[in-house]
Order: sequence, then C-alpha cells, then structure tokens
Amino acid sequence: MTTGFDELQNQIMAEMGQIYTETVIDHAMNPRNAGSIPGAGGFATLTGPCGDTMEIRLKVKDNKVADAAFWTDGCGTSIACGSMATEMIKGRNVAEALAIDQSKILEALGGLPEDSLHCALLASNALQAAIRDYLAVKRDPWKKAYRR
Ligand code: FES
Repeated sequence: MTTGFDELQNQIMAEMGQIYTETVIDHAMNPRNAGSIPGAGGFATLTGPCGDTMEIRLKVKDNKVADAAFWTDGCGTSIACGSMATEMIKGRNVAEALAIDQSKILEALGGLPEDSLHCALLASNALQAAIRDYLAVKRDPWKKAYRR
C-alpha cells in the first residue's frame, strides 16, 4: 500500500533524477566517508564563495592515502562531491591524490548542473589543501601546532 508520503517521495526522486545523475543522488543520499578520522595527518577546511564549508581529513601510510573523511555544512551536491572526492583518493599515492581536481570529480559523478559546478571545486580545493597540509607537516612537523 502506498501512502501520500511514498508518492511525494517518489515524485521528489523523479524530479531529482531529471537534474542529477544516479551517482550524484546515491552519494548525496548515502555519503561515504562522512565525519572525521582520529589522528589525521592532513587536514583542511575551506569556505567557498557560496558560504558553505568543507573539511577534509586524511591519513597517509607508506605514501598512500589509507583513509579519508569529509564534512560539510553545504548543499546535497557538496555532500556528493565530498563523498566522491574522498572515495577517489583512498588507496592512491599522494601525487595521484593531488591530481584529483574539479573535472575528475565531475567526471566521476557523471556531471553536475551548471549552478552546482562550484560544489565540486570546493571539494577539490579542500582535498588539495588537505594533501598540501600533510606534505607541509611531514616536512616541518612543528607546523601541526599552527593548524586552525
Ligand atoms: Fe555551496 Fe554547493 S551550494 S557547496
């Protein structure tokens, strides 16, 4: 038996399906790697021009990203981008992870509407800043004390 709520939910999902790819909807509704990881070796928090913030934390072991997590107070699209970005860097070496940019996140998500492209840029900028933080702290461990 379908209820009015089920019908409304189906209608919303159908409308979202006309705007976003299945992959975007999946990552927005079931985000991977959301939250934090204790003892992260790389950390960044960035606020985009839209006013939304994304944090990325990562752990590197033997020059490979062993774990990554994101958090955002942004839109559903930013959740999908943070989820995809962290999935894409896990298991990659640091240079490969640093090469994950906005276009690669967009490609992995199957694209985004024009007015959401900046959400992928926020994720890639936060990701690259977290990797640069890891590299800076690795080179100069005292820099960890100056993290915000
Ligand atoms: Fe701000 Fe998507 S609208 S990150």
